[in-house]
Amino acid sequence: MINEAQILAVDDTPANLEVITEMLSSVGYTVVGAISGERALKRLRSYQPDLILLDIQMPDMDGFSVCQQIKAMPEFATVPIIFISALSDIGSMVRGFSVGAVDYISKPFQELEVLMRVKTHLQLHHLTENLEAQVVARTQELEKALAQLQQSRLQLIQQEKMSAMGNLVAGVAHDINNPLGFLRGSTSNIKEYMGDLLTHLALYQQHYPDAIAAIQEHAEEIDLEFIVKDLPTLFTSMNEATARIASISKNLCNFARRDLNDKVLMDLHEGIDNTLQILKFRLKSQGERPPIDVVKDYGDVPMVMGFPGQINQVLMNLLANAIDAIDEGPSDAEAAPKITIKTITLADQNLIEIVISDNGAGMSDEVKAKAFEYLFTTKAIGQGTGLGLAIARQIIEENHGGHLTFKSTLGEGTEFRIQLPLQTD
Ligand SMILES: Nc1ncnc2c1ncn2[C@@H]1O[C@H](COP(=O)(O)OP(=O)(O)OP(=O)(O)O)[C@@H](O)[C@H]1O
Ligand SMILES: [Mg+2]
Repeated sequence: MINEAQILAVDDTPANLEVITEMLSSVGYTVVGAISGERALKRLRSYQPDLILLDIQMPDMDGFSVCQQIKAMPEFATVPIIFISALSDIGSMVRGFSVGAVDYISKPFQELEVLMRVKTHLQLHHLTENLEAQVVARTQELEKALAQLQQSRLQLIQQEKMSAMGNLVAGVAHDINNPLGFLRGSTSNIKEYMGDLLTHLALYQQHYPDAIAAIQEHAEEIDLEFIVKDLPTLFTSMNEATARIASISKNLCNFARRDLNDKVLMDLHEGIDNTLQILKFRLKSQGERPPIDVVKDYGDVPMVMGFPGQINQVLMNLLANAIDAIDEGPSDAEAAPKITIKTITLADQNLIEIVISDNGAGMSDEVKAKAFEYLFTTKAIGQGTGLGLAIARQIIEENHGGHLTFKSTLGEGTEFRIQLPLQTD
């Protein structure tokens, strides 16, 4: 490569130029000659040499001035310039170096010396350029690695957060399950005992219709007739309530479920319902704000392949944001706070969509542009970490091959759209 170098030689004496050209060409360099500073500068408009050999004493424009002008052009600033001059005084040499030359050869010169110096400077130049390119490449690599590191760190924080919540939820569900199991087991016994007692009482009443006064008085006092009628109804309600607690506990367990390493077929509607269950408390009326109306518009959507814990996390992040946006102030104070969750299958596009819309505060253009950025939040310190949407997008797009987009109008509301690929096999 160095032997293929392009060299610009500048000398006002054609004979000198010829000698230099011949000498350099003989070892393989391509040489372009110029017989004045002006011509050299003109050549440089359409020519990029790897090295320049420059005479100093020339009419009109001397070598120092040519050198200065070349060095002032950014594209030639690093091209090595070697002076070849009959001026061998120390003053000229110093001046040569101070205007930017890398070397100074006195005339008359030794051919071999010129060749060695040219070769050395070409090599140095080549190495420097390589080094710079390497530094740029390494810097880019390091920047990329840093960005990846930051991303995984934040992801870990979020996972940690979800896992802490999952543990809490799973723990609570577990603690509820033990007494609940006892309750459910007892109710069937109680039902039987109660039936027996009531039958027994009826037998008494049938065979001893005229009980002593104390018994009749007590029966009136406690309104025995009402108790006998009400007891089974009450019992049925209790049974239903226990069943409800059991179903809530099952939902909590489902929500907290650890992510398996492989994707599984999951029911999106179940995921949404579980998430809503967890957020139930936040949907209730709060201060001035009436309860949030949740409208479910579920379509005929098949099971999808995915990581249920992650998808639940996305639903959680989006729904929590929607509630935050409503809490922040409903777009229209008259309108009742509302969140709509719509699911639909777009068979022609091989997609399933979940659209979550709210009539909360909405986003300004500035917020819209940054919403997906890591650590971007408009919420108070301690209220928002700014990770929710970034993680949600990563989960949907990178881990599930889908898309997460949104539309928002300040003062009107926001609509988030999750698109997941339809299972085709
Ligand atoms: N439904 C929405 N309506 C209005 N603004 C929203 C909505 N969803 C997100 N935003 C805006 O986008 C920002 C980023 O949301 P993101 O969920 O990433 O972080 P966060 O909610 O602030 O914090 P957290 O990490 O706790 O979720 C929010 O601070 C908010 O300004
Ligand atoms: Mg959020």
